[in-house]
Amino acid sequence: MTFMETERLRMHCWDPEDIAGEINAFRPIATDSEVMRFINNGIPWTEARMREFIEKQLRQFAALRLCYWKLISKDSNEFCGICGLQPLAETGEPEVGWWLTPSYWGKGLATEAASAALAYGFEQTSIDHVVAVAVPENRASTHLMGKLGMTHEKDFLHYGSPHAFYSISKQAWAARAVKPTPPRIDHLGPSI
Ligand SMILES: CC(C)(COP(=O)(O)OP(=O)(O)OC[C@H]1O[C@@H](n2cnc3c(N)ncnc32)[C@H](O)[C@@H]1OP(=O)(O)O)[C@@H](O)C(=O)NCCC(=O)NCCS
Repeated sequence: MTFMETERLRMHCWDPEDIAGEINAFRPIATDSEVMRFINNGIPWTEARMREFIEKQLRQFAALRLCYWKLISKDSNEFCGICGLQPLAETGEPEVGWWLTPSYWGKGLATEAASAALAYGFEQTSIDHVVAVAVPENRASTHLMGKLGMTHEKDFLHYGSPHAFYSISKQAWAARAVKPTPPRIDHLGPSI
């Protein structure tokens, strides 16, 4: 199901009826050592970890209408990554995050997807700020946080390891100078 659409991406919800199929589609991303470099020390996720992640996305979407949506390239029709909003493990604050298949890096797609996720969060839900965390060595991610208008707040222990913690308020989002094209949102549920 397409939840949102940007210029080059469709952002799909996970299918609760076909978890095995979803794991198959997600496996090339979650087992890619380049993708996992700053997420799991380059170690591929296990089948159990992938299943747990997808089940968590389904639960979060059902409860909050927030999750890391699947990114489908409109050009290739391929599943090329994930991006969205979910509660940060340690604080429950809405966290924006992104992973892309390496062949899709460097084209501005993570910026496009994250901008859509932020637009959805700030304009269609009651969220008043969004945070993001990354290990400081993950320069592509911290650069992306800056591009989105997020500011570095503090160092933060995420799952026990040091991360850079960024945030943006709804007010700062609304006041930013460059406004990306808003996403087309297909399935609006009740606001949270
Ligand atoms: C983070 C990630 C999604 C970025 O994807 P992307 O397609 O390159 O993102 P974009 O093209 O939208 O923007 C990336 C920006 O970071 C910059 N960048 C990329 N690599 C960089 C690096 N090593 N150092 C500094 N900046 C870098 C790009 O130049 C671009 O900025 P610009 O538009 O000002 O030139 C991708 O690298 C990825 O999937 N990484 C693995 C998963 C991951 O680590 N996720 C985050 C966990 S916190």
